[in-house]
Amino acid sequence: MSDNGKHTNVIVRIQRFNPDNDQKPRMQDFQIELKPGTTILDALQEIKTHQDGSVTYRKSCRHAICGSCAMNVNGKNELVCKTPLRERLDKNGVCTVRPLPYLPIIKDLVVDRTAFWEQYLRVKPWLAPPPTVQTDREYRVSQEEVAAIRNAETCIMCGACYSACQVIALNKKYIGPHALLKAFLRVLDPRDAIPGERLADLDGSDGVYRCHTIFNCIDACPKGLNPTEAIETLRKLAQRRLKVEEERLERQKTITEPIA
Ligand code: FES
Repeated sequence: MSDNGKHTNVIVRIQRFNPDNDQKPRMQDFQIELKPGTTILDALQEIKTHQDGSVTYRKSCRHAICGSCAMNVNGKNELVCKTPLRERLDKNGVCTVRPLPYLPIIKDLVVDRTAFWEQYLRVKPWLAPPPTVQTDREYRVSQEEVAAIRNAETCIMCGACYSACQVIALNKKYIGPHALLKAFLRVLDPRDAIPGERLADLDGSDGVYRCHTIFNCIDACPKGLNPTEAIETLRKLAQRRLKVEEERLERQKTITEPIA
């Protein structure tokens, strides 16, 4: 309802593409009633349920946790499950939803993330603890070491940064902000035993030096993370990676003492 108690109808403009029928993407308008608290995902769900069951998109958790629902809204990548529709209406009452840019479209708002995940695996995103660590015990990590990773562990792998990156748009071999942020998390993790090896892997032409510091990844991140700063840190560490490896070995002499 609007402020004067009347129902307000708005337009959700959705990019459609069915590879079985369409030569290229097209836009389609759907009119819905704007209800209090409606998110863009709610609007898509309403359209799919009551107007056109063929509208296709990804979603899962509906709570900005799983990262499935990243889309391009009015030209900006964001999670549609946490974005109020009211806040994305233009002066004509229209909200435009497209799939994440620079990725192959499978159907409507669903993109093919194969390259995204392949690049992610390149950085060995798993923790590689030293063999002395017992996995059933807890180990002490200082508050300063936790602060240094700058919440990078809260990345939900939604792809918003990857798809906003102009370098990825031109060069799919670039590892990308999502994977470099994960590499940053592992390299700075005092429990990890292979920071030097990781930094050597990132030192090539598709790695940390390929970032042009355009900052699109920062603007796009729905979690407020800073992949550009993480990449800059990795560059500096890569230049002294042997020293980083030595320091890590020294640090692990203390970290591998389990908490009693
Ligand atoms: Fe999980 Fe939006 S549906 S992040």
